[in-house]
Amino acid sequence: MDTLQEKKLSSQELIELENKYGAHNYHPLPVVLSKGEGVYVWDVEGKRYYDFLSAYSAVNQGHCHPKIVNALKFQAERLTLTSRAFYNDVLGIYEKYVTEYFGFDKVLPMNTGAEAVETAIKLCRKWAYEKKGIPENEAKIIVCENNFHGRTTTVISFSNDPDARKNFGPYTPGFIKVEYDNLSALEAALDMENVAGFLVEPIQGEAGVYVPTDGYLFDAWQMCKERGVLFIADEVQTGIARTGELLACDYENVKPDILILGKALSGGAYPVSAVLANDDIMEVIKPGQHGSTFGGNPVAARVAIAALEVVKEEKLAENAKRLGELFREEMNKIIEQTDLIKQVRGKGLLNAILINDTPDSSTAWDLCVALKDNGLLAKPTHGNIIRFAPPLVITEEQLMDCVSIIRKTIMEFKK
Ligand SMILES: Cc1ncc(COP(=O)(O)O)c(C=O)c1O
Repeated sequence: MDTLQEKKLSSQELIELENKYGAHNYHPLPVVLSKGEGVYVWDVEGKRYYDFLSAYSAVNQGHCHPKIVNALKFQAERLTLTSRAFYNDVLGIYEKYVTEYFGFDKVLPMNTGAEAVETAIKLCRKWAYEKKGIPENEAKIIVCENNFHGRTTTVISFSNDPDARKNFGPYTPGFIKVEYDNLSALEAALDMENVAGFLVEPIQGEAGVYVPTDGYLFDAWQMCKERGVLFIADEVQTGIARTGELLACDYENVKPDILILGKALSGGAYPVSAVLANDDIMEVIKPGQHGSTFGGNPVAARVAIAALEVVKEEKLAENAKRLGELFREEMNKIIEQTDLIKQVRGKGLLNAILINDTPDSSTAWDLCVALKDNGLLAKPTHGNIIRFAPPLVITEEQLMDCVSIIRKTIMEFKK
């Protein structure tokens, strides 16, 4: 018997199933999606929406991109998993492609963003002991306040979001927290003993799309370089053309020592993440010291090549840059006409609007529900902020249609 075909369930019935049988670790908007194509998704009842979240920037290439889906189908019918106990005939080709694409000597393939962050932390620590000469177990990694790097025990150990942290201790030691976008705070921390790395999001996405001051990343990178500290860029959300350049670090010509990628590395078709570094760093990892059963599997490898090809072939970075500027211009026009929105900020097509209300108010949530009713899906991040991040394949005409939906929803909205 085919469980999924038994009978067609309504959105409400499907929501109830998730509520009853699934852990309540998310609070989704009440919409049940069953189909996606490009910038659009459809719910179970057949209503069409613009996706303005893109699965937290994983679906940069658009839903079910035919080239990526074909790569997935092709490989799924040939060979899906060998583990790294054996070689497979796609991984090496992908490794050459991805390292040349981003300009690094080597890649370490993983699956999720959090795993890649964990990998980068382990790599940085091992490098610190074996290359930099930091005494064993003394290495410190500097992180930023309000960071978001995932949900594993080590990663939440250096979060300052109480929801992410509370009652999940004891926490992993070895991290120093500094204010984001504050070079003197970073400098003071860098001058502490045994600092091995600085882990940073080029734009803080989850925190509410905080774009640092121009020059911050460059100066931070220089300060790290002067002290022999590894600059580790978490571009899981900002990378792969989202902000209008291939990497957000490219805006300041910053070349991280360790680059962390995930999400759109597969166009959302499959969990694929990666850590990239040059040989002098990557060579500290030897057989048996780190890995993952699924990391580097042939499906992931083939899908990632296709996803990265799409980014170049369809000039997604250029599109994100141009339409991002247009989007912020249009949002600023709306802001002039309403008290409900205070600010729009972002880079490329990673943007957020700030609602003129307290962070604990339900206004942002209610506005997202109203946007949904009008055919556009977005989600609040941290209380009174709504992130807008459509697939990068969006056209100007579609974007302007979305601007109309947002304008109408805001103008008609009653608190
Ligand atoms: C900057 C950043 N790093 C890491 C992660 C974690 O990725 P994943 O959810 O795939 O573990 C995210 C997810 O939103 C992220 O935005």
